[in-house]
Amino acid sequence: GIGVGKLLAETGHVTYDPGFVNTAACSSKITYIDGDAGILRYRGYPIDELAGKASFLETSYLLIYGELPTTDQLAAFTEKVQLHTMLHEDFKRFFDGFPRDAHPMPVLSSAVSALSTFYQDSLDPFDSDQVEISTVRLMAKVPTIASYAYKTSIGQPLLYPDNTRSYVDNFLRMTFGVPAASYDVDPAFAKVLDTLLVLHADHEQNCSTSTVRLVGSGQANLFASVSAGVHALSGPLHGGANEAVLQMLGAIQADGGDAASFVRRVKAKEQGVKLMGFGHRVYKNYDPRAAIVKQAAQDVLSRMAKPDPLLDIAMKLEEIALADDFFVSRKLYPNVDFYTGLIYKAMGFPTKMFTVLFALGRLPGWIAQWREMINDPETKIGRPRQLYVGSPEREFVPIEKR
Ligand code: ACO
Repeated sequence: GIGVGKLLAETGHVTYDPGFVNTAACSSKITYIDGDAGILRYRGYPIDELAGKASFLETSYLLIYGELPTTDQLAAFTEKVQLHTMLHEDFKRFFDGFPRDAHPMPVLSSAVSALSTFYQDSLDPFDSDQVEISTVRLMAKVPTIASYAYKTSIGQPLLYPDNTRSYVDNFLRMTFGVPAASYDVDPAFAKVLDTLLVLHADHEQNCSTSTVRLVGSGQANLFASVSAGVHALSGPLHGGANEAVLQMLGAIQADGGDAASFVRRVKAKEQGVKLMGFGHRVYKNYDPRAAIVKQAAQDVLSRMAKPDPLLDIAMKLEEIALADDFFVSRKLYPNVDFYTGLIYKAMGFPTKMFTVLFALGRLPGWIAQWREMINDPETKIGRPRQLYVGSPEREFVPIEKR
């Protein structure tokens, strides 16, 4: 493939492939997807095995370093991450600077970007020790940043990380706990959240990951590249879909809860009306992650004192769509985010935080892909070509004569 790309450039030919539907921009050993068969594997391990058996930090280690950790390796990695969860005191002022009602995604992205200013000793992309420490800093500090973004938005004081807790427990406590009061994390919620993070941990060359690689290909540092990835993830066609699904379900409920009439509007291709959480560029079959999330949603929501009517609407939408030729012929199935929002809502997260949770999950994938890119001798600065369709050469007209 690399040879062909070179040849096309040399002969003056370019491939025209909007959305890179058929263009591989790199080779990678990290994640394998067979979209027709509904298969997803990280470093060769099937997602349904990892989601049940490996913790998020274990999965992160696998993605970043290429192998499942031994007990000692996982303990050492966990300890390193726990050591770095604190943010510099001055860094906390950032959270006061943003408007209270700011969406937490741009807050997260800006804060990740600002890591380059506070941790200037870890910016050299070719110094493996510096890359290692920025890897650990990102894994450790992003949950703290995410929780602080939320706490600020609701006017509550920030909580220091409690490094005796597990990764997910610590994040839940910083997010939902209050100072001077004990906070017991519901172990069932912590387990489900850990699994959801595993499910989101990598997905090869999706929009945000390609962004991270593209920014990094210019030799920008890991913090800068990941910050760009967070922005890419924020769009409603990508990570923002989990938030958009909940808004869609809420709108259907407010309209009387008629899933069938909503599906009719989708099929009529009404402006701006899509079945959010359905469809995928690569999966032309049931997204293997969606099946796991659906089961988790049913489990979590069945534990709630009050059932969530939005789950019924979601299940009805899925039932109608899977039996309708419009969706079947286009191979549109639920993707990972069709049911995640319902779980996050049940856990008490506001809708605005859903995409932040996706970012927390995708973080090790971004890091692993950036590290692979920077160490790959085939990497060149990303520089797509274009087909110019503008005006041919024209004569300049002075402003007074236009
Ligand atoms: N609802 C209704 N119709 C859809 C949907 C949908 N969710 N998704 C695709 N289609 C239709 C398109 O209108 C198109 O129909 P046409 O052939 O009649 O024009 C056909 O299916 C193919 O769709 P494309 O937009 O060409 O597919 P593409 O691969 O470019 O888009 C995407 C994939 C962006 C995920 C799309 O399916 C979508 O917008 N889904 C909703 C948003 C969403 O859930 N995003 C999350 C993606 S997964 C993730 O990031 C975690």
